[in-house]
Amino acid sequence: MSLRTFLDQAAGSGDLVTMETPVDTTFELANVAHALEGRPILFNHIKNYPDWRIVSGICSDRRYFSMALDVPLPDLLPHLAQANEQPIPPPLVESAPCQEVIIEDVNLYDLPILFHLPEDAGHYVASNVVITEDVDYGRNMCFHRLLRLDERRFAARIIERRGTYNAMQKVDGDLPVAICIGVSQAVLLAASMGPPPDVDELAVANALFPTPLVKCLTNDLAVPADAEIVLEGRILRQTHAEGPFMDLTETMDIVRQQPIIEIDLITHRRDPIYHALLPGGLEHKILMGMPKEPTIFNEVNKVARCTGAVITPGGASWLHAVVQIEKQGPEDGRRAIEAAYKGHGSLKHVWVVDTDVDIYDPAQVEWAMATRFQADKDLIIFENQPGSSLDPSGQHVPGQKSRTAKAGFDCTIPWGADKAKFLRGEYGAVDLSQYEVV
Ligand SMILES: Cc1cc2nc3c(=O)[nH]c(=O)nc-3n(C[C@H](O)[C@H](O)[C@H](O)COP(=O)(O)O)c2cc1C
Repeated sequence: MSLRTFLDQAAGSGDLVTMETPVDTTFELANVAHALEGRPILFNHIKNYPDWRIVSGICSDRRYFSMALDVPLPDLLPHLAQANEQPIPPPLVESAPCQEVIIEDVNLYDLPILFHLPEDAGHYVASNVVITEDVDYGRNMCFHRLLRLDERRFAARIIERRGTYNAMQKVDGDLPVAICIGVSQAVLLAASMGPPPDVDELAVANALFPTPLVKCLTNDLAVPADAEIVLEGRILRQTHAEGPFMDLTETMDIVRQQPIIEIDLITHRRDPIYHALLPGGLEHKILMGMPKEPTIFNEVNKVARCTGAVITPGGASWLHAVVQIEKQGPEDGRRAIEAAYKGHGSLKHVWVVDTDVDIYDPAQVEWAMATRFQADKDLIIFENQPGSSLDPSGQHVPGQKSRTAKAGFDCTIPWGADKAKFLRGEYGAVDLSQYEVV
């Protein structure tokens, strides 16, 4: 459903917080949103931007995806996996809410773009999805944070050798882009996924929840019809310093020379709602991590009987995973570790546990490690692997893939061991109403 329909639902369910005090886009709004994290918050009054409202926190709990995609919470991961495997091409409509207001005289200072932290390089758009066309593979959709440079230009963080970067390498001149802000959770989730390059992420979004598109006005790209704001423009063959910026790991990402995007046209809905996503916050973390769970699950399932996979918040929702297997043989733990890295290339540490361990409870995972793991046999170390650019402890050389060490912890009961030795004893159930408790 659209962002607005979701906000109506969240108001109905009592989840939505509305903020009536005017707030400033420089630091204040980010600080208030952070203090209220975990709930969708609608800021009804923005200092210096009387025509705008800002929403934050719409992806800060898995429950909000379940509401927005209209699927029960336990079915969320299978629904994601299904949309990934069977995308549905989205329909094109003639006219759309996202083009209710058309602004040719572009001035990016008219948008309520946040300055999140004093250490950041400046005002950043962090919730936007960028749509491009690859001459070989077709449409691509990806997040790219945008540092506002002046009235018409941003510096965009475009990670090397992924969809947008690869599409840029195949054209001589500028690459047309459509930047969408204030899109549905289906679109946000689809943009976070990294399917094979020929998969259209907007078709994945449409399989998650119907997502009609409309053609842009200055180029041949198409955008979600119910987006709040669309910036049509071009990625130039010029670069500018981008960063520092507090990223997913809540540490400062470095300054790099990054491509400039020039905006030609702005369209938006009447009474527009800007989506502010807090870098390093819950929305950022859930959007990054959750789409990797079905891909890890699928890979592990090819080599062992996988019963669950979770990307854990303590690992910045990106670098750590716990995988649950129903062990069928002595090598299953090791195989599951290797497969998990195939399912998520940036994964650094992975714990494999048995089905009696709740993978959503860090204390239970630690218990399995404490009682079932021996480092000389069950620790698998991989040296000098391709790793995440977000991990400050990795090795980062400009223009090259980051490198890291990886480790897998097989915390399953050793094959052939006396199983009873490893199982938790269980106290019997009691009906406390039969007892006088003071
Ligand atoms: C909230 C959020 C912010 C992100 N910011 C960036 C970014 O600034 N630059 C980037 O290249 N990728 C960013 N990503 C990751 C891309 O969206 C991700 O790499 C994408 O799934 C890769 O898809 P592709 O290979 O199809 O382009 C971000 C992801 C999320 C969820």
